[in-house]
Amino acid sequence: MSANASAFDAWIRGPFVAMNSVLEALYFAQTDRANVEGVGDAVKHALRDEGHVHIVALWREGNTGDGFESAFAVLGNVGMYLAALRRHELTNPAREDRSPFQEASSLALHVGASIGMAPRFATAHLATRNFAVAGVRRSFTDLRDEFLFIDENTRGILCFQRAADALARIPALGVSNPVADIQFAAAADALRAAIAINARLFGTLDIERFFYCVRPYYKPYRVGRLEYRGANAGDFSGINEIDLLLGLCQANDPSYAQLLVDKMLFMPPEDQTRLRDCMRHRNLLDEFLALAQDHADTDWFQTNARAFIEVCDLFAKTAAQHHDQLVNRFIVMPSATLDDVHMSGLTASGPPLSVLLRALESLRDQRMAADRPDLHTRHADLARLRTCLVSTENQR
Ligand code: HEM
Repeated sequence: MSANASAFDAWIRGPFVAMNSVLEALYFAQTDRANVEGVGDAVKHALRDEGHVHIVALWREGNTGDGFESAFAVLGNVGMYLAALRRHELTNPAREDRSPFQEASSLALHVGASIGMAPRFATAHLATRNFAVAGVRRSFTDLRDEFLFIDENTRGILCFQRAADALARIPALGVSNPVADIQFAAAADALRAAIAINARLFGTLDIERFFYCVRPYYKPYRVGRLEYRGANAGDFSGINEIDLLLGLCQANDPSYAQLLVDKMLFMPPEDQTRLRDCMRHRNLLDEFLALAQDHADTDWFQTNARAFIEVCDLFAKTAAQHHDQLVNRFIVMPSATLDDVHMSGLTASGPPLSVLLRALESLRDQRMAADRPDLHTRHADLARLRTCLVSTENQR
């Protein structure tokens, strides 16, 4: 990392966090906690101006040749700086047609293009690639609830990645291979851990702190002329690898394909490659169904199909937890009391909450293989596979 990149990184992990934390305390103490106008202006301006000095130095340096890790870190840091300016309303895409922060935009565009990612901070910067320097990982504030959110999200993502790793090795073995059993078992273990993490997050995250002090850093903002949607915990390939490998979602379904295309550049290059790879495999549900007629009574079919269905059921549970518990408790419920003026910019991706919720609900139902006549799900196919199992203990 160059001296300028290191200095900016130290500023982001130190003074930047301190200034955001001071501002959050001021906002949170108000009767209208969503208001940021006219509050803490001196601190906001110090944050903007101190960050600008680092950005200009890096932009002048024009150096993206220090390797992926360094470029990725600079992209995350400039992205977090712009996200904080957005959070403190020093920029707002609704009232501007280009970012007022030209040097930061140029730096983000240059570095983002050089590593093949969107020119903004991505989930990986705060999660799976949030490199801790002697225990200090990147964050916007020093709030307990922000660390809880970042850490539990990261643990959750790591679990889904483990499940995806395990399932991704099955196509090469074939579902009729007896050794596929340990891969299904590994995926099931990882999903059980994800369920426990979701439950812990649900039980411990403070609703008001998350809603008013953490979530606002994930709003969309402009880089140059274009507006880029906010990061969300879903910006990693593992979850979609599981969708596609299990066969619960299909890459030729237009709305799911759109989701994959939209998130591609919000993921690190290695995730982009993995996602492309798993779009080329035949899914495991189809593999089992193709073998069912002639082989349902064999030991390998019974063992592996049962293990596959267990993985589907655990994955369904994670999807229900995300939508019915996390999204509902931490976004839908607190937004019901929000003033109309503060409703715009509520979601990370930008659309009104009702539109976003419908899309998230469809994803949940596809992952749960729910019986929904208005949506293509694998309900009937999974039910058919369940009927092939000799014992009825796993049937719903
Ligand atoms: C407080 C906890 C959480 C809340 C309130 C929450 C809320 C949301 C919201 C509102 C979105 C839609 C983003 C947008 O477009 O605006 C989203 C997307 C997503 N989140 Fe979460 N989330 C939470 C934790 C998690 C965790 C722990 C995971 C798993 C690691 C996760 C996985 C996903 C995924 C995969 C998506 C993309 C949509 C999908 O494929 O389902 N989220 N989340």
